[in-house]
Amino acid sequence: MTPTTFSPLTTSQTGHAMETNAVTTSAERESTRQARLEVRHLRKAYGTGSSAKTIIEDLTFSVDAGEVVCIVGPSGVGKTTLLKCLAGLHPATSGEMRIDGRVISGPPPEMALVFQDYSRSLMPWLTVRKNMILPLRHLRLPRAELKARCDEALEAVGLSHAEHQYPWQLSGGMQQRVAIARALAYRPEVLIMDEPFASVDAQTRFDLEDLCLKIREDFGMTILVVTHDIDEAVYLADRVVVLGSKPARVLKIADVDLPAPRDQIGTRSLPQFAAQRTEVLSLIKRPA
Ligand SMILES: Nc1ncnc2c1ncn2[C@@H]1O[C@H](COP(=O)(O)OP(=O)(O)OP(=O)(O)O)[C@@H](O)[C@H]1O
Ligand SMILES: [Mg+2]
Repeated sequence: MTPTTFSPLTTSQTGHAMETNAVTTSAERESTRQARLEVRHLRKAYGTGSSAKTIIEDLTFSVDAGEVVCIVGPSGVGKTTLLKCLAGLHPATSGEMRIDGRVISGPPPEMALVFQDYSRSLMPWLTVRKNMILPLRHLRLPRAELKARCDEALEAVGLSHAEHQYPWQLSGGMQQRVAIARALAYRPEVLIMDEPFASVDAQTRFDLEDLCLKIREDFGMTILVVTHDIDEAVYLADRVVVLGSKPARVLKIADVDLPAPRDQIGTRSLPQFAAQRTEVLSLIKRPA
């Protein structure tokens, strides 16, 4: 994707200023909504003519500026397909997608995507640091800034020690963290991640979830995450989009009214947390 100059947004610009100490109600959130990503009546079919297969049917939802939205749904429902359409890598069959009101017809410059298949997105012949620098080359940043961005992102994912190693020398979870660090170094305004924490241990997963919330707060990033983990979706999200299959459609967009800042032990112990997770789980378990 074409690089862009990063300008961190302030908390008040993100619409999350009210979320620091208290529960933000759905009504309050509604009043501050400003859509950054919009998906309207998206339909996506692979193939043409009689062999065409509709994967996504009439999908509509939006992600507001500074929001974290999680998408959950059964395996094979079309989540990765949806993200690739949003990232401008696949054209929609019909319907439209917009970023800040602009129709998405190719990779938007202000967006970074962390692929589900992270191992294939890293170049095996490049070191970790060179993998991170590759998508930043077009920015023509001064050497010192390039270094600072890489150092900061590697530190954020706990991989400062691995900068000179090659991807094939790292564990799956470490490679996944490199892919996340590469996206962070790009400093996108919109970060889209496809099951980003799937192959890391529980402790690292908690740390990366909290990192995700921290970068939202620090940089006002808008974040869309696909996950299979319902607890993770509820912990991270302001809203959870629950998809039903076949073809993919929205079963429900659940508002998550949990206090901020979220805390791995405190938040997950709340009765509201259990209630929200039960709500999402019952939608997924119900025959579609
Ligand atoms: N390039 C493609 N051409 C044809 N069919 C495809 C293509 N990519 C995906 N599909 C099909 O689209 C459907 C949805 O795939 P997709 O990868 O989007 O699902 P998913 O929800 O991300 O699954 P998972 O949770 O397992 O990652 C599957 O039936 C898949 O076989
Ligand atoms: Mg997928």
